[in-house]
Parts: sequence; structure tokens; C-alpha cells
Amino acid sequence: MKNQYALVTGATSGIGLEFAKQLAARGYNIIAVARRQQQLQAVVDELPGSSHQYCVADLGRAEGVEAVVKLMAAQHVQLLINNAGYSVLEPFYQSDLSVQQDILNVNCTAVMTLAHTFLRQAQTGDALINLASVVSYLPTPAQPMYSASKAFISALSECLWDEHKGRGVYVMGLCPGVTKTAFILRATGGESDGQTLPEMLIQTTEQVVQEALSALDKRKKSIVITGWVNRMMMLMPRVLSRHRLIKVLSVIGNPDNAL
Ligand SMILES: NC(=O)c1ccc[n+]([C@@H]2O[C@H](COP(=O)([O-])OP(=O)(O)OC[C@H]3O[C@@H](n4cnc5c(N)ncnc54)[C@H](OP(=O)(O)O)[C@@H]3O)[C@@H](O)[C@H]2O)c1
Repeated sequence: MKNQYALVTGATSGIGLEFAKQLAARGYNIIAVARRQQQLQAVVDELPGSSHQYCVADLGRAEGVEAVVKLMAAQHVQLLINNAGYSVLEPFYQSDLSVQQDILNVNCTAVMTLAHTFLRQAQTGDALINLASVVSYLPTPAQPMYSASKAFISALSECLWDEHKGRGVYVMGLCPGVTKTAFILRATGGESDGQTLPEMLIQTTEQVVQEALSALDKRKKSIVITGWVNRMMMLMPRVLSRHRLIKVLSVIGNPDNAL
């Protein structure tokens, strides 16, 4: 792994932080990207190895995305983890348009732009992991823009998997279900941590990233759904009518149970 670089967006907490840790343990030099400078510094300081770096960037803004694009032009990155993403749990029509626009910017435009930059310079053996979600296939009415953004990422990842497999560049759409992170706390503005679901429905970041890296080693699947419970839930769209599916998801997708 000497001189192999992995760029991880959203590396200051949750799944991104765990990717940074497990990839550093595998010998990658990590380039950690997020908005909070102090947290980024702490992440880089605590990772095993000494060649890690960070970039402060707000991926909801064109300047932030441009800073990461420039970084990738200056340093060839063998592995891109397009992980930064978020949701807001409030009714679509009641929330400011600027909030919904920012979700689109961070979850879709930044992911697409960084994937494009990465794939144009990718070499045989390189890989791209885009963080989607089980909501790609199970749209939850409590999170319309988030569900739509993750469906975008899954579709984009599957198509890019096919576009690049011939040149030995692997693309994965990673679909976790509920994972123990700050995600729901942030999405509800601190009102709920969403961890009231039965334990069996919740994965740890360690489990999600271990499954992702084991799939990365095999380089076969275009979409990786983590956890057997989440894989079972994928039967729902097959056995339920579309309108019944949405009804069920509107119940289990409330802030305390959100996917
Ligand atoms: N947790 C779940 O249940 C779950 C399930 C399925 C999929 N996912 C997906 O997994 C990914 C990681 O989520 P998580 O659960 O680990 O959430 P998290 O703990 O809230 O972490 C989100 C990360 O994204 C960064 N980020 C957010 N907005 C950003 C922006 N505008 N510019 C740059 N960085 C930004 C945050 O860093 P800063 O605040 O420092 O910028 C943080 O490092 C997301 O794409 C999420 O949709 C999560």
C-alpha cells in the first residue's frame, strides 16, 4: 500500500471517519475532507502512519468542491470515498428551498463532480466508493430530498460500474441502513438520535466499513447493501405494491425510526 492515497469526504465523523481509520490501518495515506478544521486535524493526528493530510471544504459550495478537484489534480488518488452527505427531517414544503438545494449540492453535485474528476484520471486498479443508502430503494416520505439524492447515487454508481469495469477501475454504490452515527441527530436538529430501533436493525460504522472493504477486495458487486436485515428489507419492493410500500415507509421512516 506504499504511496497509495485514499481521499475520504466527510472524514470527521461516522462512516467517513471509520473509512479513514480502516484504510489508514491498511497502509493508505489518507486525505480527509470536511468543513470542521479542528476535527480534521485531530483525525489526521490520530491515524496510524504519518503521511496523512486534510482539506477544509464545504461540499455544498462550488469553491469547496473546486478545492478538492484541485487537490486531486495535484495528487493522484487511488481510492475515492465519496461519503459526505446529510439529510434534514422536516417537511419538504415547509423547509427553506436553500436547505433542499444544499442537500442536492452536497449529496449529488459534489459526488458527481468528484466522481468525474476521479474517473478521468483513474488508472487500472483504482476504485471509487459512493455512499448511497437503502433509501435508494426504499424512499422514505420523511426525507424526500435525501431519498431522491441516494437513488441518484445508486443509479449513477451502477452505470459507472459498468462504464469502467473494462478498464479495471471499480465503482461501488454502498448502501448501509441505519448506522450508529451523528446522522439522525444532525438531521433532526438535535431532537432525536434515531437509536430507539431494535439493536438488530442498527449497524455500527465498523461493521459497515468492514463489509464495504471486503466487497472492495472482491471488486464484483456494483451495489453493496450492508447487513442481512437491510438485505432482507430489499424484498419489500418485490412483495408490496408501490403505494403500500410508501405507506409502510412513512410509518417506519419517522424521525425516531428513520433509515
Ligand atoms: N447513518 C446512517 O444511518 C446512514 C445510512 C445510510 C447512508 N448513510 C450515508 O453515509 C454518509 C455518512 O453519514 P454518517 O452517518 O457518517 O453521518 P455523520 O456522522 O453526520 O457524518 C457526516 C460527515 O459528512 C461531513 N459533511 C456534512 N456536510 C458536509 C459539507 N457540506 N461539506 C463537507 N463535508 C460535509 C461531516 O463533516 P463536517 O460537519 O466536519 O463538515 C461529517 O464528517 C452519508 O452520505 C449518509 O447519507 C448514513
